[in-house]
This record gives sequence, C-alpha cells and structure tokens, in this order.
Amino acid sequence: MAQVSRELGIGGLAKLASNECPLPPFPEVVEAAAAAASGVNRYPDNSAHELVDSLARHLDVAPDQIWPGAGSTQLIAATALAVGGPGTSALYADPSFVMYPIATRIAGSEEIVVPLDERHRHDLDAMLAAIDATTTLVYLCNPNNPTGTIVDAGSVDRFVDAVPDDVLIVVDEAYHEYVTDGGHRSAVPHAVTRDNVVVMRTFSKVYGLAGLRIGYAVGRADTLAWLRRTQVPFSANSLAQAAAIEAMRHPDRLAKRIADNAAGREQLEAGLATLGVRYAPSQTNFVAVFPERDPSDLAAALERRGVIVRALGPVLRVTVGTDAENDRFLVALAEELA
Ligand SMILES: Cc1ncc(COP(=O)(O)O)c(C=O)c1O
Repeated sequence: MAQVSRELGIGGLAKLASNECPLPPFPEVVEAAAAAASGVNRYPDNSAHELVDSLARHLDVAPDQIWPGAGSTQLIAATALAVGGPGTSALYADPSFVMYPIATRIAGSEEIVVPLDERHRHDLDAMLAAIDATTTLVYLCNPNNPTGTIVDAGSVDRFVDAVPDDVLIVVDEAYHEYVTDGGHRSAVPHAVTRDNVVVMRTFSKVYGLAGLRIGYAVGRADTLAWLRRTQVPFSANSLAQAAAIEAMRHPDRLAKRIADNAAGREQLEAGLATLGVRYAPSQTNFVAVFPERDPSDLAAALERRGVIVRALGPVLRVTVGTDAENDRFLVALAEELA
C-alpha cells in the first residue's frame, strides 16, 4: 500500500468526498455530449422526449411516468415546494442526505427528524410513529447516504402500506445500481401503482455524469404532473439529455463498473477491519466510517495528506475510488491513527 501511495506522489489529490464515479464517462457518452454542444444555440427539448422514451424502455414504465430534471437534487427541491409550505412538515432520517433539510427549509415546511436505528438503517417504525397531521412528505433514502445501508424489500412494502395515502413518499434511489444485497428491491413498482410514491434516480453516480446535472423521478402521471408545477422550464440541458441517452446503451460496461465498485468497497472495508476502525457495511459507492477521533479533525488531517473525504457529524464518509486511491486513503488513515 505504501508503495502505491508513493507512486501517486503527494501532488495529486484523491477526491473521495462526493460519492462521484472515479472514472470518466464512457467515450461514446463524451462524444454524444460533444456532438450535442454544436446545437446549444437552441434551447433544450423541454419535454426531453428522447431521454424519457429511453428511460421508459429501460425501466419498463410509460413515458408519462418519468420526470427528468437537473439532477435529482432539483427534483427533490421541486417536490418539497409542490407538497410543502408553511403549516406542513417533512420527515426524514438522521443522518441522511443533506438535501432533505435544505429542501424542507426552501419549502418553508417544518422538519421532523428520526434517528437511524443502531445498525445505521432507517427506523421505519419510529418514522411511522413520527408522522403527524401536518406531514405531507416522507423521505426514504434507500440505500442511505451517508451510511450506505439499505432497508429490505419487505420492510419497504410494509412501510408504503402503512403511510397515510395523503403523505407523499420520496424513495431516493441515487445509489440503487450499486446494491449487491439480494434483499434489496427498487420501489419503482410502488411508484407506478400508488399515487403517493415517487422514486428519484440520478445519472450522477454509476453513470459518471455528475457535472452535467441530470436525474429523473418515476411515478404515476398525475402525481408527476402535480409535482412538476414547481420546476423551472428547460431544466434538463441538451448535453445532459444526449449523454444520458448514450450512457444507457452500454449495459455490459456498466455491469463492470458495478463489479469494480463492489471490489473497491470490499478493499476499503477489509482495510478498515484490519485497522480496527468501525464502519457500516455498505451497499453503495461509499463507506461510513465511525472513527474514535473527531471526524472533522480527522478529515482535515487526511486532506493535508492529499486525501479528501467528508465529515458528516459522527461519520467520516469515504467514497470508493480507484484501487490506488482506496489504498492511499487506507495508508493515510493508518498513519493518522498510528
Ligand atoms: C441520496 C442522494 N440523492 C440524490 C443525490 C443527488 O444527485 P444529483 O447529482 O442527481 O442531484 C445525491 C448526491 O450525492 C445523494 O447522495
């Protein structure tokens, strides 16, 4: 490991803080985006019909059950505005994705925060109990950021059944593609059969298009029509639309990326276990570490060693990088903890 670290040199940074894909988009995707660039004197297709059709085929749903936007972040904010507002509340787990409190504040709703359980998973019973008469929105981040944990399919089914019909459930599946646990299942079937469920997905992670800002929601046509009232026009730009369409044309290479990510995740987890550092077994492209030392302090120390990771409360979150980057993180962590 130390040799790899030396080879990388101290100049280059290992950016393991934002759960990005460590590899560039597939070459054909870069070409598609470059080709689309010559047409950017025109506004993008506001209905993104080609992308929507590709996604509908990809997911086996109807085109009007897809809502694209400038990353799922934008769709989360638009959804919060559409169903929230003063006098309402939105409920989410803690720690979970930082966008939920931001969207709740943008909408002017109250926050109801429910801690994860002792295994760092959503505590669905406690979440159900916390829903009150003001609640219009519940977030279920599955797998959860920043802990990398999932709630299994049966638990999601029971939760969806138990949440009142007038409360919208946003199932955020930003990391769905990385999951290897057989107990996990997408909530898309719920989203297309229930008025109060939408699934959010993104091209920012496994497809490697974070800089282009493109994501989508899946839900019933009427539900999506209601939510998209709060979205500004032309949100999905033309480069992003072209790139996302092309990105879905390479399932074999995507599968390789997913396998490589799982191997990198194991590399990180094995290294952490060897160092005796606590972590949450992950189903995503990042691992939540629970160091004895203050995570902010440790993240700052690692950054001085050229390794950028994210401190989020009690969690030090490290994104799965290339083999060399993962090793570099483990070497830096070992040196810091020595
Ligand atoms: C759980 C979760 N949802 C959504 C997103 C946002 O993705 P996008 O880049 O599509 O806005 C992220 C990004 O880190 C995330 O962690």
